[in-house]
Amino acid sequence: MAFPHCVFPIGLLLLLVVGSSGRPLYPLPSKSSRGNRQPLQTSRPYNIAHRGSNGEIPEETAAAYMRAITEGADFIETDILSSKDGVLICFHDVTLDVTTNIAQHKHFANRKRTYEVQGVNTTGFFTVDFTIEELKSLRVKQRYPFRDQQYNGKFSIITFEEFIDIALDAPRVVGIYPEIKNPVLINQHVKWPNGKKFEDKFVETLQKYGYKGSYLSKDWLKQPAFIQSFAPTSLIHISNLTDLPKIFLIDDVTIPTQDTNQSYWEITSDPYLDYIKNYVVGIGPWKDTVVPAVNNYLQEPTDLVARAHAHNLQVHPYTYRNENQFLHLNFHEDPYVEYNFWLNHIGVDGLFTDFTGSLHNFQEWTSSQERDKKSASKLLHDIASMIATYNNRV
Ligand SMILES: *[C@@H]1O[C@H](CO)[C@@H](O)[C@H](O)[C@H]1NC(C)=O
Ligand SMILES: *[C@@H]1O[C@H](CO)[C@@H](O)[C@H](O)[C@H]1NC(C)=O
Ligand SMILES: *[C@@H]1O[C@H](CO)[C@@H](O)[C@H](O)[C@H]1NC(C)=O
Repeated sequence: MAFPHCVFPIGLLLLLVVGSSGRPLYPLPSKSSRGNRQPLQTSRPYNIAHRGSNGEIPEETAAAYMRAITEGADFIETDILSSKDGVLICFHDVTLDVTTNIAQHKHFANRKRTYEVQGVNTTGFFTVDFTIEELKSLRVKQRYPFRDQQYNGKFSIITFEEFIDIALDAPRVVGIYPEIKNPVLINQHVKWPNGKKFEDKFVETLQKYGYKGSYLSKDWLKQPAFIQSFAPTSLIHISNLTDLPKIFLIDDVTIPTQDTNQSYWEITSDPYLDYIKNYVVGIGPWKDTVVPAVNNYLQEPTDLVARAHAHNLQVHPYTYRNENQFLHLNFHEDPYVEYNFWLNHIGVDGLFTDFTGSLHNFQEWTSSQERDKKSASKLLHDIASMIATYNNRV
């Protein structure tokens, strides 16, 4: 008898809690002008849209990045590689095989090569063997078969400059989070005029569009950017070229650094954190190295986050994905439980997610609850007494 009467008030309560933050979940472009854009939020861990909203739309495409911006990303994340003619592009794999329709382009069949990539002989169609014009003739597709395939073949590869345009055109301040990807391979295969290296072109591109300034400086807040790389020598090389904040990415425990061949254990040691903190503001570890998993169940967390924080380094782990294929069993197939664990139990400073919308909703709803806990419980009390009165009348 009491249950059906409860349904409406609880729904009403949820609406009030969400709405009472005073801001719409997704700011409407028509409501903000370029001159007075909503600033980057800096009061809670960063929502980093990994390759755009690639859980929904093929990775690293303009559509995936625009979707991530609509869904509330603080930063849009991208992997920078190069074409044969030295144009920087947004693309994750060094080969085009998995996420483009290169196989259908029979006229490129003779471009297949084998190169050594991080100590492994890899065969495929490498971005560094195609001009930007040729790359633009390809179309991108979804990486995983269990994700939405309807956008396959609809979008092309974009350049680093086109990516920057998307961020700068956003209706609010949206940061960028580009990676200097596979610098060893790129510098082996692509040459730029005047002896410039891949890393130099990368920084020049950021500077061309006005990206500068140290973390949280006035310049930075206007156009926020984190530069990320797995290669410590690349981060050190650019340290004299730009004061933009840098993040040192850390791979799985089995994979040595591509440039210095250092082990996971060496680069996460206290002496190394002491050294690298002179160049970077944080680390970006693979999440399973922070909290190891056995048989798909999480084990005791390591002390990596505590030690990084003790060195005043932020921690932005990767990658959070909604699907059961990726969720550890501790999380009961619920990505919100995973976000709650990492944000509120482990205490990280940013997360790379394939589903920016899910992380955004989690953060909006939980922060509204925090802010409104008092008024919400009062409201609940009022509703309960209304129901009691109503039930008494019936
Ligand atoms: C890759 O292949 C070349 C040519 O066959 C060979 O000389 C080299 O040792 C191989 N490298 C690795 C890491 O297997
Ligand atoms: C950066 O500049 C300083 C001072 O000029 C110099 O001592 C240092 O070697 C430079 N570092 C790199 C990586 O070029
Ligand atoms: C990298 O380090 C490992 C372990 O110390 C060593 O066995 C290997 O030969 C090194 N590789 C290169 C390319 O130096």
